[in-house]
Amino acid sequence: MSRLIVVSNRVSAPKDPAAGSAGGLAMALSAALRKYEGLWFGWSGDTVETFVPEAKIEDRAGVTVALVDLEAQDVEEYYNGYANKTLWPLFHHRVDLTAYERSYGEGYERTNARFAEVLAPLIQPDDLIWIHDYHMIPLARDLRRLGVKNRIGFFLHTPWPARQLLVTLPHHRRLVESMFDYDLIGFQTREWLDLFRDYVASEPGVNGRLLPNDALAAFDKTVQTGVFPIGIDVEGFLSARNSTFGARTYDRMAASSAFRSMIVGVDRLDYSKGLEERLLGYEQFLADNPDMRGEVFLLQVTPISRDDVDTYQDIRARLDALAGRVNGEYADMDWQPVRYLNRTYRRDQLAGIYRAARVGLVTPLRDGMNLVAKEYVAAQNPDDPGVLILSRFAGAAEQMGEALLVNPFSREEVADAIKRALTMSLAERKRKWESLMQVVNDTDVSLWRNDFVACLRAVERTGDGDAGDA
Ligand code: G6P
Repeated sequence: MSRLIVVSNRVSAPKDPAAGSAGGLAMALSAALRKYEGLWFGWSGDTVETFVPEAKIEDRAGVTVALVDLEAQDVEEYYNGYANKTLWPLFHHRVDLTAYERSYGEGYERTNARFAEVLAPLIQPDDLIWIHDYHMIPLARDLRRLGVKNRIGFFLHTPWPARQLLVTLPHHRRLVESMFDYDLIGFQTREWLDLFRDYVASEPGVNGRLLPNDALAAFDKTVQTGVFPIGIDVEGFLSARNSTFGARTYDRMAASSAFRSMIVGVDRLDYSKGLEERLLGYEQFLADNPDMRGEVFLLQVTPISRDDVDTYQDIRARLDALAGRVNGEYADMDWQPVRYLNRTYRRDQLAGIYRAARVGLVTPLRDGMNLVAKEYVAAQNPDDPGVLILSRFAGAAEQMGEALLVNPFSREEVADAIKRALTMSLAERKRKWESLMQVVNDTDVSLWRNDFVACLRAVERTGDGDAGDA
């Protein structure tokens, strides 16, 4: 059986899988690497004075990881720069926040070439290579230049932007052309795939052709594309929920909510998550429903993220002010409407928190999928489930139509949905939950992983000559 090589900027294989802090994706990819052997390759998170083209190999609970140190300038231009100041906002429809510095593009190209230089010698002839996310889009091209002929797949965890937005990126064609060195490109939803196909088919100068079964031809190459909606590790999440720690957190939250309904939000501190709009929607709900004040509270768990980037510092300051304002305006001596926390919780704690919440509020302005929505559903008590309010602009909305879908830009719509969720009958809550839980089960992360790997293995290589893989 061929080995699997997973490549991502962050290597999240847990050192101790039993510690309960690793996410479902990290667990699913680690499990695959234990099964198929192979390794997980990426940035170590560390910097060095001078780049050395060699990986540090470690064993993490039976998973081999190969880590590369980068120079501070690489981190600044590739990670903080092109990945997080250029591609991330652009892919999340925030052209207003997108920075197009030439040095970022150069750093991105240089760092990807460095990754390729270190990775290429670690690849054996019949390995399958699976590259993840926007940090490493050109990596297949760089590996091909070094003579790698293996099957290489790419999965984008974020949205893909509309052509009208993508063309604001200098060298957008070069970026898309580099994607034709993959054998398989996966997206979270049909919507993102269709936007990619639209660019290839309509962008002047690309002269792309749409082929049957979602294959595409352009730049004298063909590539297979597909939709692979990611999910959570349902079994792992349920056992985290049922663990002693999960149950204890549930009890703690239930006691701390006494006679009040908890609304919960859990998101990295990121402008794409719609946190300001969410707080404004909640504020509107408090303004519209004086009789419900004192009976609800919003627990917003928001770990700090990418805080070397100015747009993240700005949104952090605005959220601090907004949470303070809502509390100042509405709090009573024995009631605080918003509990706003900049910290992380382990997966088992989150499961307990979700289970104690009557409403899950997941309102990103744009999101590749959003697994909080799926975790919230999985955590519920089937006999008395809470209600999921979900942004129609999250990839998850394509599958989770039974949630209360909202336009997160409209504070009135968010306020109305909160009220509707809090007053929904038990029968309706159960009916919705059953249908949503079906989706969560049907999109389990191991199915997603197996589906992608099977497609990559089956794809016909049309690259340069002998594929060299079994
Ligand atoms: C998103 C991206 C991931 C990224 C994660 C955390 O989910 O799709 O690729 O790893 O955010 O962001 P960070 O910049 O901390 O790795």
